[in-house]
Amino acid sequence: MTLSDVQIIDLPKILDRRGNLSIIEEFKNIPFKIERTYWIYDVPGGEARGGHAYKENQEFIVALSGSFDVILDDGNEKKTFSLNRSYYGLYVPKGLWREMNNFSTNSLALVLASTPYDEMDYIRDYELFKKEQL
Ligand code: TYD
Repeated sequence: MTLSDVQIIDLPKILDRRGNLSIIEEFKNIPFKIERTYWIYDVPGGEARGGHAYKENQEFIVALSGSFDVILDDGNEKKTFSLNRSYYGLYVPKGLWREMNNFSTNSLALVLASTPYDEMDYIRDYELFKKEQL
């Protein structure tokens, strides 16, 4: 996949004076079935997460709280997406190198994934990733 397959997706937002509410339904708001959910939190200042690609797994990333950057790389170009609202998210198709950094204090990154955890699905070597794009 390339950076042109990446999408910022706006989520429904139910505004209410009691507090707002947003929703994600599989296949309706995001283009895959959710097999796994994880979240990243308590990230110390200056730390980065990610630094890998997935062969099959697709993800949808939402900044439920605070802000952070997701840097995506398809082997040809890199793009930084800043996430800082809980009513939209970033759809990351398979096969892109991704890093996450610039986490604000108390930020909370929700990640919905299309496959169960499988270490064999990871490409953790950037040179190998680049080679596979050729
Ligand atoms: P990793 O995906 O490398 O984290 P990040 O990309 O955010 O830096 O995962 C870190 C560790 O957590 C690694 O040892 C595998 C484990 N892990 C699971 O056991 N299940 C999961 O669903 C995820 C995402 C990670």
